[in-house]
Amino acid sequence: MHNPRRYLLVIVLSIKISIAFTQETQWIETAPGIWKATAGVPESYDLLKASGALPAREAIAAIAPATFPLSQSDITFEVVDGKTYLRFPLQKEEQVYGFGLNFQTVHQRGKILQLHVDHYGGKDNGRTHAPTPFYVSSKGYGIFINTARYINVYAGTAVRKDSKNAPVAKDRNTDKSWNARPYSDAVEILVPAGGVEVYVFGGPTPLDAVRRFNLFNGGGYLPPRWGLGFTQRVKTLYTAADVKKEIAAFREKGYPLDFIGLEPGWQSKSYPCTFSWDSIRFPDPAGFVQELLKDKIRVNLWTNPYVSPDAPNYKAILPYTGSHTVWNGVVPDLTLPQARNLFFDQLQKNQVAIGVSGYKIDEVDGYDHYLWPDVATFPSGITAEQMRQTYGLLVQRYSADLFRQQNKRTFGLVRASNAGGTSFPYVIYNDYYNHKDFITALINSGFAGVLWTPEARASKSAEEWLRRFQTVVFSPMAMINAWASGTKPWSYEEVAEPVKQLALLRMQMMPYWYTAFARYHFQGIPPFRAMNLEEGFAPESKNEIGSTNLEENPYAEAVSKEIKDQYMAGDHLLVAPLFAGQKSRKVVFPKGRWYDFYTGAFAGDGEVITVTPGLDKIPVYVKDGGIIPMMQPVLHAPAAGEKVDLTVRHYGEKPSSYLLYDDDGETFDYEKGAFSWREIKVEKDKRGKWKGTISSPVKGKPNTVGKVTFEFMTK
Ligand code: GAL
Repeated sequence: MHNPRRYLLVIVLSIKISIAFTQETQWIETAPGIWKATAGVPESYDLLKASGALPAREAIAAIAPATFPLSQSDITFEVVDGKTYLRFPLQKEEQVYGFGLNFQTVHQRGKILQLHVDHYGGKDNGRTHAPTPFYVSSKGYGIFINTARYINVYAGTAVRKDSKNAPVAKDRNTDKSWNARPYSDAVEILVPAGGVEVYVFGGPTPLDAVRRFNLFNGGGYLPPRWGLGFTQRVKTLYTAADVKKEIAAFREKGYPLDFIGLEPGWQSKSYPCTFSWDSIRFPDPAGFVQELLKDKIRVNLWTNPYVSPDAPNYKAILPYTGSHTVWNGVVPDLTLPQARNLFFDQLQKNQVAIGVSGYKIDEVDGYDHYLWPDVATFPSGITAEQMRQTYGLLVQRYSADLFRQQNKRTFGLVRASNAGGTSFPYVIYNDYYNHKDFITALINSGFAGVLWTPEARASKSAEEWLRRFQTVVFSPMAMINAWASGTKPWSYEEVAEPVKQLALLRMQMMPYWYTAFARYHFQGIPPFRAMNLEEGFAPESKNEIGSTNLEENPYAEAVSKEIKDQYMAGDHLLVAPLFAGQKSRKVVFPKGRWYDFYTGAFAGDGEVITVTPGLDKIPVYVKDGGIIPMMQPVLHAPAAGEKVDLTVRHYGEKPSSYLLYDDDGETFDYEKGAFSWREIKVEKDKRGKWKGTISSPVKGKPNTVGKVTFEFMTK
């Protein structure tokens, strides 16, 4: 006989499981142009909790006003079987960008992804160093899902039977227009949790939506000036003497250098790490760091966070670590204050206190074969999955505090981040080393609220070295990572001179880069970003996404295609790199007149051109009226408060103005108002001759501007 009570239980359970509720969504404007809604019951730990990000409210309020960008009834939330299903509408011509640091694609419509922190494995499938759950629409809005879970994204792939814009069924037997991927009018997302917070960011432009997202996360980090100089990472087992020799070689040969990166060998043991200096390779760490500082060179230290049984803090930290080890090192549960104190005190005493300027925090992204598995447990109760999604945020957040406590800015490297990490002083890098894909990542970093460096390591040829180097100097961190190869900027003799000129150009452009980063901090504008965020970069024709019937208009065709090999740098520059083996390339100009950066000559306007620049030039173009403040080609960034003479370049035919950011370049005093924006103006006088002016220094504010001269590049 069957037990009737068991039957009843089964029935009750199955009813519970199949309960799905669609809720009436309440959208609350949490900051101007940013709306929040809650689906189901959100978890207590999420990306914003892990990062501790706080919105820069005043800066958000200064963006052009926005109204709720979507029809609210077209957004649906459902909790089914303990999971949350989200649905957002898409229109026909709409494109979507973002969903993290992708390396091969910029257009995300039509993608199926699982957002999961990981090293990049060669496919844009959602597993990446910063799988930021944020997307931006070409229609000028953004959506952010605040969860520390692996989420599944169907970005315009699935079709519901009740779709308002359902595609018509076609007969594949006879109809040539039959499509294996019918039109989808929604982004659908599965969050494996019983609830989640969702944020909508208004525009009106896609750049405004990105700005709101970045400012919502606190705004970009303002690096110290030296962070924008040149950096070399030396071979793993270099000794203090080797490092000093390398620095001397930079000086003698006249290559700029601001900070030098020590790789695993500075530690007595690594993989897992002791976080202690090796007494043979570095017998006097404090003396070494101070000696370098006197020569204007800062030290950056590699580490991963996995604690060796030989680390001084091992025994104490053990109770606050996860169930699983990484390379036999324990994993501190950094959500616990006890673990944080023990871990970061060691770094503070041993390194930061003696003058180390920053860290490169490695291997917090993963690779499933060495990282903790999803069945690992942590003493705080935070699950392995949540820890994986946020560990990069945690190491950035709390290591950044070490420098803030000293009122010193830092700028370092990290291999994992996520939403909420925008205001952290870190640039992402990896081991993947595909030059073209590195540029696509640079473009996508601007949609993900993170920074990315296309580091150079070594190359198969002098040509490849120079091509890589050209993009390194037009990126957030100008870096050679020679941890394995020992490559120096001058290693490829045939191109040693152009490499040097590029490194010096990076230094000359420091006032421009510094202002671009100030705009990231104060206004949320990514310093490196996609063409799709540039005004005037839109197809004239209204082509349906995915349609092949483009009008006979090469420009419209070019801009509606995915552009993943040219990008915007700072306010006014368009960078169009070449890759080894390439002699010429196409450049797509947004509408408006564009000028050659090197000569000032007119280059194009809302059109596609082909350029053959020769090996030693990376094509760079300036917007009409573009102002580029430059300084002398020095070997080190100016010290705090040091005055520098400026040469201000003006391009094109438009009179224009530019706000130059200034502060001491090293501390957080700007947060207390110790900064200024000086207005640079270029106009024509009565006789039609160009004339440039700069507003007077602001009383009581830091002033690092010396003599200013103007160069009118377009004759
Ligand atoms: C890798 C990292 C490299 C280098 C190396 C040292 O994980 O990506 O940049 O630091 O470790 O072992």
